[in-house]
Amino acid sequence: MEKYLINPNHKIAVISKDIYGHFSEHLGRNIYEGIYVGEDSDIPNKNGMRTDVISALKEMGVPVLRWPGGCFADEYHWMDGIGSKENRKKIINTHWGGVVENNSFGTHEFFELCDQLGCDAYINGNVGSGSVREMSEWVEYMEFDGTSPMAELRKKNGREKPWTIKYFGVGNENWGCGGNMEPEFYGNEFNKYNTFVRDYAGRGHIYRIASGPNKTDYNWTEGVMKVSHRHMNGLALHYYTVPGGWGDHGFATEFDDDKYLETIIDAYGIDDCINHHLSVMDKYDREHKVDLVIDEWGTWYNVEPGTNPGFLYQQNTIRDAMVAGLTLNIFNKHADRISMANIAQMVNVLQSVILTDGEKMIKTPTYHVFKMFKPHQNANLLSSYITTDFISRGGDKIPSLIESASEKDGVITSTIANVSLTESKEIKCQVADTDVKDVKAEIITGKKEDHNTFEDPENVITQEFTEFTKSSDGFTAKLPPLSVVSFAIK
Ligand code: AHR
Repeated sequence: MEKYLINPNHKIAVISKDIYGHFSEHLGRNIYEGIYVGEDSDIPNKNGMRTDVISALKEMGVPVLRWPGGCFADEYHWMDGIGSKENRKKIINTHWGGVVENNSFGTHEFFELCDQLGCDAYINGNVGSGSVREMSEWVEYMEFDGTSPMAELRKKNGREKPWTIKYFGVGNENWGCGGNMEPEFYGNEFNKYNTFVRDYAGRGHIYRIASGPNKTDYNWTEGVMKVSHRHMNGLALHYYTVPGGWGDHGFATEFDDDKYLETIIDAYGIDDCINHHLSVMDKYDREHKVDLVIDEWGTWYNVEPGTNPGFLYQQNTIRDAMVAGLTLNIFNKHADRISMANIAQMVNVLQSVILTDGEKMIKTPTYHVFKMFKPHQNANLLSSYITTDFISRGGDKIPSLIESASEKDGVITSTIANVSLTESKEIKCQVADTDVKDVKAEIITGKKEDHNTFEDPENVITQEFTEFTKSSDGFTAKLPPLSVVSFAIK
């Protein structure tokens, strides 16, 4: 029997709701078809946004959305995406499949999407192929509430009032697709571009994000922090779980036990990676003024057979639910230093929460995990600890049980992933100094390759979990292998 202790007397930090953020790039069928179908589509829509997808996303909760990229951001010229749609420039999406991008989804459409989702906006600017002036004018277009050339242009295009940018990213992966720069060089570019991301709204509210490292590239963090830490609010880490590395990563639905272990161990590596980047950041920022943002994370497999390799379309199984469950628990535990995270990507790309096929739509196992974890948004992270055995592969080992606990409005939410392939785990939970009156629980579980299809959309869903016994100070429970369970404790 494993021991699980939750201490509601020790509140560590508020878990920013933005840790549950998403990312939508102009990539494959994410924006076009997945979200935006245009006003004239037969697929039911409101102002071009498909109503089925919006309603599912609202139910799950999207606090913040990053747009327009990714690699696409560093070749996006925002002026191509405003004004009458017939006249918008058609360009080649060189990064993603070489397809025509007709720019019918631009700045106005993005804010309409945020409005419909009820989420905040994270805009990613173009450093790689854009100018300082272009970036500055985009911010003026979006935020200035007075008389100026860009504010007049916005009004001419039908939007009187400015919008609010919560987060602004100055470039993306500038060590790679964003310009192949050296860290110190990018640091100087960041400082220059960021200077002209003016506070047009006069509220000093724009949170500035520097393009950060790829996974364990601590040298990038070192160089950028050295040159730019005084000018940024957050540094953006990208962490993809890529079983097999950048060769053959296997398919989303066909994989053996060894591939499962490889995936889950790689995913768990994000914890060490976060700690290591934070320790490098601390050398330059002892007062912790700069947060870590993880604005791209998730699994990356071979694309589904027969689909465009540049569209990064993959299915999503119980394995992905395990990755989501363990990763979100790790993010919660780092709530004092992580201000935002964005899973890649929201619809039809990589570890999506929604998949579409024409007018059909399904929710993935990852969707259900995000929904189960919703009560953690803006809750107080509590001190908690669970004993656990380990699972291993070669020389690597990780815990079987990965948990976090938080409190909001008198309810304690505890989420536990049992990532073991075969072993159920019995746990005894004790909540310190608490007279526990009621416990309710939900579970997502199945075989490792179980997933939803357009023919069988509810093969994997969350269900009420009853394999526990309440006690006066907690509960005992038996968690099946390959499960994520969420407890609501009152
Ligand atoms: O999410 C897909 C791509 O992965 C993004 O465009 C890029 O930033 C990263 O390499």
